[in-house]
Amino acid sequence: MSISTESQEFAVESNERMPVVVVGAGAMGRSWIRMLASSPHARLVGLVDLDLPLAERAVLEEAASGVIVGTSLEEVVANSGAEAVINVTVPQAHRIVNETALLIGLPVLCEKPIAETLPAAIQQVALADVTGGLIMVSQSRRYFNHLSALRQAVSKLGALGTVTTDFFHADHEPGFREQMLHPLLVDMSIHHFDALRHITGHEPLSVQCSAWNPSWSWYASNASATAVFELTDGVRYVYAGSRCSPGLQTSWNGSWHVYGEHGAAHWDGDHHVEVDAEADITVDVPSDYENIAGSLAAFVESVRNNTTPENEIRDNIASLAMVEAAALSAASGERVVIADLLAASYAEAIATERRDDVRERLAAWGSVEAGLSSGHWGTAALARA
Ligand SMILES: NC(=O)c1ccc[n+]([C@@H]2O[C@H](COP(=O)([O-])OP(=O)(O)OC[C@H]3O[C@@H](n4cnc5c(N)ncnc54)[C@H](O)[C@@H]3O)[C@@H](O)[C@H]2O)c1
Repeated sequence: MSISTESQEFAVESNERMPVVVVGAGAMGRSWIRMLASSPHARLVGLVDLDLPLAERAVLEEAASGVIVGTSLEEVVANSGAEAVINVTVPQAHRIVNETALLIGLPVLCEKPIAETLPAAIQQVALADVTGGLIMVSQSRRYFNHLSALRQAVSKLGALGTVTTDFFHADHEPGFREQMLHPLLVDMSIHHFDALRHITGHEPLSVQCSAWNPSWSWYASNASATAVFELTDGVRYVYAGSRCSPGLQTSWNGSWHVYGEHGAAHWDGDHHVEVDAEADITVDVPSDYENIAGSLAAFVESVRNNTTPENEIRDNIASLAMVEAAALSAASGERVVIADLLAASYAEAIATERRDDVRERLAAWGSVEAGLSSGHWGTAALARA
């Protein structure tokens, strides 16, 4: 096996930087503000939070000058000349902020998870349809250069048999995570499940999951889980994770093994990719923007070129479905079939949607598969499943 590393200069003129508003000045909002300060792709022109002093403090402490701060997205957009919105609010506020952005006519890059439930996520797909706007989900852990190398290796292993991810961490993050239901599956595993789809191109069909809270856990709900997913073409995905395991901790990206027809590949989640295959396999480690900077680069490129980014909301539904199916399986002890879950979620989306135009659009799809594989920004991820 050989690995080559590209070195590449990124040069984008500052006047090409897209003016953006960040909504949400919490912990992750600060990470976005810091990243934007040196981004060649976008620049911060506005910051919105319901907590105005918090937003003002964030701008001051992060030395972000010339930034319009406020509690109203409409007003901050009007006063700042923003051309796009980055939604870094808590999951329960994602819809209202995305809706406001789309109704103003701006594309939005929204933090994961796109919604707290699948029906709420499906409603946002129809909202994007109705407005003709773009909602891209920032699944930032797709953007790691060694993940790209692993993906290349996996594409050369022939048919796949088994993929495993181990994620063992000890996170102390006071706030909503330590109080929420399923802090591992909902807040963290979505990254790994999404990366699985990205690496293999296989889509989830069903899952059997067990989730529990170890006796010493500092989380209110299940911080540990194991799950076995059946994927398209008979591939199995075996997941084991914990957010309260102090010792032999893995990377935030997890530790990956992929076993195929012609060999196997491993990624430690950081900077080590290893391939053991019948033939010599060459992979390149690119030097692209990583993590949220990579996500932003993909978003700006798609807005500028009017193309559909790979993490457009439609595509992300399958990643969220893996999370929700795993949580349901853990609660019932039963295997959960993803197509059944999606059909039930679609019916609930229609039954609970508050906007007439969005409800009518949902009903007009006829089926969830039709809705997720069509539309202006549509991709065909679930149609493949
Ligand atoms: N991609 C990653 O690796 C990663 C890492 C951490 C967090 N996140 C995601 O980022 C998001 C924010 O997480 P956080 O840790 O910063 O949360 P946080 O609680 O620290 O901050 C959220 C902020 O949103 C504000 N807010 C809530 N509702 C609002 C509304 N309607 N309008 C304007 N502001 C509103 C709150 O006042 C708060 O300041 C979550 O979706 C989380 O899952 C992603």
